[in-house]
Amino acid sequence: MDYSKISDCLGVNDAGHLTVSGADTLSLAERFGTPLYVLSEDKVRDTCRRYLRPFHEHYGGLGTSIYASKAFCCKEILRVVVSEGLDVEVVSGGEIMTALAAGVDAKKIHFQGNNKTVDELTLALDRGIGDIVVDNITELHRLDRLAEERGITPKISLRIKPGIDAHTHAFIRTGQIDSKFGFALETGEAMNAAREAVSSTHLELVGLHCHIGSQVFDREPFVLAAKVMLGLFAKIKSELGKTMTHLNLGGGFGVRYKEEDGALPYESYMDDVSKAVHESCAQLGLAIPKIYIEPGRSIVAEAGVTLYTVGDIKTIPDVRTYVAIDGGMFENPRYALYQSDYTCLIANRADKPADFVATVAGKCCESGDLIQEHTPMQKPEIGDILAVLSTGAYNYSMASNYNRNPRPACVMVKDGQPRVIIRRETYDDLLRLDV
Ligand SMILES: Cc1ncc(COP(=O)(O)O)c(C=O)c1O
Repeated sequence: MDYSKISDCLGVNDAGHLTVSGADTLSLAERFGTPLYVLSEDKVRDTCRRYLRPFHEHYGGLGTSIYASKAFCCKEILRVVVSEGLDVEVVSGGEIMTALAAGVDAKKIHFQGNNKTVDELTLALDRGIGDIVVDNITELHRLDRLAEERGITPKISLRIKPGIDAHTHAFIRTGQIDSKFGFALETGEAMNAAREAVSSTHLELVGLHCHIGSQVFDREPFVLAAKVMLGLFAKIKSELGKTMTHLNLGGGFGVRYKEEDGALPYESYMDDVSKAVHESCAQLGLAIPKIYIEPGRSIVAEAGVTLYTVGDIKTIPDVRTYVAIDGGMFENPRYALYQSDYTCLIANRADKPADFVATVAGKCCESGDLIQEHTPMQKPEIGDILAVLSTGAYNYSMASNYNRNPRPACVMVKDGQPRVIIRRETYDDLLRLDV
């Protein structure tokens, strides 16, 4: 199989080993141990550039791409994406502190979340976070009071549910009315929130935000969302006399986990959306606002590979073969959570056909601790290095210490050279907080 069709940072070298940005995965596993997250810096940078280019083409450089840091939040990744010119989206105090520690300018941080605590809002205000995206009316009131107490006028936007059903898994679909995120458009809730925000003397309403879902392959929902959101922009202008300056259309662009996944080039989303933005603004008599998008998964997913050592192979006749790895749901819970797809292979025989079918099982005490079921791979042997592709997003960031497993290290590869960006947890790290 040609693994470069899943991610162009992947290759197979003369020894038949899988490579990431030119680095031999067998050497990486030997040098840094397993399980190991590997991330291609070249791929992340290339993707950032592809996301920024259309802003120059379509909007004369106004607006930008925002990296949704929940996909993979650590200081070095934030330094990389910010050095490429992206802003950063955060959803918690921890993500705010990580971004600030990475040297991200507070004005370039966009703070999301459906239940930001008073402590988190206070932190955001005290650190001068540039854009607080308000999710609900309680939060609007809370923020208004905190701003008044401090005598400041923070910039806010409103998270809107545009009522669009993006075709994706129910757990990662967010733009339709039955969602815990944001103000509903159909019910008048969004307009009421805008009215309150405009009348507040302690808050400055600068924009609107929506995010319709994740791992979305269609372009149409994004185009529709842009039109719907600009309609609300125009309504707020005509009914409330408020002209906002920016529109954030969220993230959600699909990536390749398997070869057959129909991921589109990012540019094609941007082309279609920008056409809709230009047309709608002309029809509605609006100046084109600063447009933002907020991709997370598609910035890092395909840049990541996780490496494991095969510890045992258990064949149950007429049932299945389990390949037991030294990782599992503690470092990648996505299959256990929502049966997400992955491509698996034996990294030390990547040049051989993937003609064996097996189930990849983790080492946690849960029968559901699986990474992939009935999936093709090269015939495995004990001691092999098993690689799982497209693990850059929502793997490390969703990892836990279940069963007191230390979380793996992460190495970033640039021009074939690896460096540790997150060190492996030790047993001392695990015990650090215990009293
Ligand atoms: C508000 C918001 N923005 C951006 C994203 C990033 O989405 P994705 O990683 O699918 O691009 C999410 C993901 O859940 C989100 O909730």
